[in-house]
Amino acid sequence: MFKWANLFGSKNNLEKEIVSPNGRNTCKFILKNGEVFYQVLCDGKVIIDESRLGFLICGEEPIGNNLKLIRTTMKKHDEIFEMPWGEDHYIPNKFREGAFYLTESTSAKRILTLRFRVFDNAVAFRYEIPAQPKFQRITIADELTEFNINLNSVAWKIPAYEPDRYEYNYEKATVSELTNSVHTPLTIKTPTGYYLSLHEAALYNYGSMTIKLQNQKLKTDITPLSDGTKAHLALPFETPWRLIMIDNSAISLTTNRVMYALNEAPRQDFSWVKTLKFIGIWWAMYVGEWTWAPGERHGATTRHAKEYIDAAVRLGIGGLLIEGWNNGWEGDWLQNGINNSFTEPTPDFNFTEIASYARIRNIELVGHHETVGFIDNYERQLEAAYDYYAKNGVHYIKTGYAGSQMMINGRREYHHSQLGVLHYQKTIELAAKKQIMLDIHEPIKGTGIERTWPNLLTREGARGQEYEGGAILPSHACFLPYTRLLSGGMDYTNGIFDITNNVKRVSTTLARQLAYFVTIYSGMTMAADRPFMYENNYPDMFKFIHDVPTNFEMTIPLAGEIGEYYVVARKSRDLKTWFIGGVTNEFPRRMHIDLDFLENFVYEATIYADSPDAHFRDKPFGYEITTRKIQKTDSLDIYMAPGGGFAIELKQL
Ligand code: NOJ
Ligand code: CA
Repeated sequence: MFKWANLFGSKNNLEKEIVSPNGRNTCKFILKNGEVFYQVLCDGKVIIDESRLGFLICGEEPIGNNLKLIRTTMKKHDEIFEMPWGEDHYIPNKFREGAFYLTESTSAKRILTLRFRVFDNAVAFRYEIPAQPKFQRITIADELTEFNINLNSVAWKIPAYEPDRYEYNYEKATVSELTNSVHTPLTIKTPTGYYLSLHEAALYNYGSMTIKLQNQKLKTDITPLSDGTKAHLALPFETPWRLIMIDNSAISLTTNRVMYALNEAPRQDFSWVKTLKFIGIWWAMYVGEWTWAPGERHGATTRHAKEYIDAAVRLGIGGLLIEGWNNGWEGDWLQNGINNSFTEPTPDFNFTEIASYARIRNIELVGHHETVGFIDNYERQLEAAYDYYAKNGVHYIKTGYAGSQMMINGRREYHHSQLGVLHYQKTIELAAKKQIMLDIHEPIKGTGIERTWPNLLTREGARGQEYEGGAILPSHACFLPYTRLLSGGMDYTNGIFDITNNVKRVSTTLARQLAYFVTIYSGMTMAADRPFMYENNYPDMFKFIHDVPTNFEMTIPLAGEIGEYYVVARKSRDLKTWFIGGVTNEFPRRMHIDLDFLENFVYEATIYADSPDAHFRDKPFGYEITTRKIQKTDSLDIYMAPGGGFAIELKQL
């Protein structure tokens, strides 16, 4: 039987303050009657009231009531680091740090460090448990970290531990209603008007943090393993950073990049990593024209692959994803996936021929591994599967983990448990070794590790356009920038032009499909519809998809409210072009955009917008393309139809 012990405790009483560089945020470290707490203030107002810290540990004697502070270190840090790709090329990393070294005064004398970093727009802290003679391996029974936030605050949540992982619609609730666990990033608005996001950074080798109301306080609920514990650890160990983003508006929260700053710089060369735009043998399966499984309507055939490669060349799109190329999709693939092969193509798919056809035409193939969550089967083949692609010149792989849970070591585990986290990390590190870039579907949520592992170009990890056809409302893409996208890029599978398809009716206007290429950042970005839709039906609208980059120099959020609308400007890495995208929920909106962020040049603006009579339900194809010369002293007035949006390209002349 486990004994449950509280790691912390002390009779010492003390308080230490760490103040952010501009003085705005304060974090108090509090040692009170043998227990450890923290408190966060912004502008002198309490944002997070006294909140408990600590762990319960399995099989350990109580660490007791005698923790005392043996040493404190304080430091300043101020740097700007570069990201090889992303929404912003340069990210500031400026904070004040306080580290509190604690020990027990009992005979066990276990030691532990609490490290806090206080930024002007965030507070973060983590637990560090050093290796120590009598304490080498531990099993976490519970993490006690609390976030004592005003219960009347409003939160935007998706549920944890549900079969579709992170793929849910966002719902608004008060903090007092969060009685079931929810995922992070958890965006919150306090009654005093602050916008917070509770999240974590650098999640490795530990269960993902979900959050739940317990005893009238928000508390971490670390995703359990199938044995009921939270994590098995060898010491030394550092937990992920517990991160509280703090901003004044919803829109400024969208460019809070502290999550990346809390991750380490890469430790190896990643100069080979390149972002990618790609089409795919994909949506044809969703609209029922083709199938993943072999048969009469098999999508991944040699002929189709060559046709799509030719189309990619004509469209000027650099990559092609091919799903359903391998053995294992026959019958009910969600049930049968336990035997999927990742090195055996179906008989009608001549992989080497296709690979060389693509190579000659300069098209990057995006390989596909649908594991269906059968991790034992996948890990057995992992090395061979990556080699199989690498030796045929495939540098990009989309992976997938469909299914409500994973099968790991013969047991069912949550995707976001410690074992799930370890599996995803194994794929990322092996891919890095083989110079392969990844797009992970049904992933672990983003915690900024892309800074250290930039070959992880994107993930899904939210409800994407595959749910169109009834399960997505226009408001969904107006929630994402303020919630899911705070954890990094997302493969939303943009650019569906076949909006009125009767199998998958899409709940947007056409112009809004272009907006997604700006409002939803992704290091690997899919133009998801079938090529004929772009070439034959709307080549004038496709021009924007062709032009928009997948890597930006900087991002300036312009306007928005959670679940209502979002307008953002992004500058290309060659510094010559700006792109602006906007989306609205089911309500129409006229946006006034000041262009004072532009440089002192004349620009040619191409505006792809909804027509005045457009409507996502009745007239989705109502659009207008206009061009005009503009400069920074000008402004634009753009109309967004119900369920609509717009995209603008501003080219320096
Ligand atoms: C779910 C993924 O999100 C989707 O993109 C993929 O096509 C299917 N699984 C099949 O692998
Ligand atoms: Ca999915």
